[in-house]
Amino acid sequence: MKTVNTLIVLLFVGMPAMAEVEGVPPAPETYCQWEMVNYAIPAPLCGLKGDVANGIKVVSDGAKGNCLACHQLPIEGIEAYGTIAPPLAGIAARLTEAQLRLRVVDSRHLNPNSIMPGFYRDPSLINRPAKSYEGKTFLSAQEVEDVIAYLVTLK
Ligand code: HEC
Repeated sequence: MKTVNTLIVLLFVGMPAMAEVEGVPPAPETYCQWEMVNYAIPAPLCGLKGDVANGIKVVSDGAKGNCLACHQLPIEGIEAYGTIAPPLAGIAARLTEAQLRLRVVDSRHLNPNSIMPGFYRDPSLINRPAKSYEGKTFLSAQEVEDVIAYLVTLK
């Protein structure tokens, strides 16, 4: 009988920890509000500084930016890319850093029918069916800034 009691106590002690692992999604990254000025976002998201090398990884990664599904980018060794969106070689000669940031963050401010995903749209405005994605942006603020850092090199 004593063993059974101990078991029950152990079960109760163990429960909160188990609930965390199974039911509750990991805490969402703190979302930084951004401000649109003249169809551009002048300030870096969360005040972060981007990293070019990681930006190249994010644009090529099918589970991250997946930009290559739609755009051609001048990355060495990439042979397959999408052609349903404008090629991005030389994009920084046409768009400023702030204009590029709005395109990546939420292109629907420029074209409400855009098929391009908003990579840093306010999570409270997105209806994401999977619970584990609730409250999250497609890319983190750091990843967006990394992508921007890379795009501005495309002159
Ligand atoms: C599902 C397809 C799709 C994906 C994925 C996508 N885009 Fe786009 N993108 C478009 C389309 C289509 C346009 C043309 C404008 C529009 O329709 O919104 C565009 C426009 C742009 C522009 C402006 C181009 C110009 O010539 O003015 C930039 C910059 C851009 N995308 C960057 C990116 C980056 C960086 C990624 C990845 C993080 C990405 N896109 C992912 C479809 C896509």
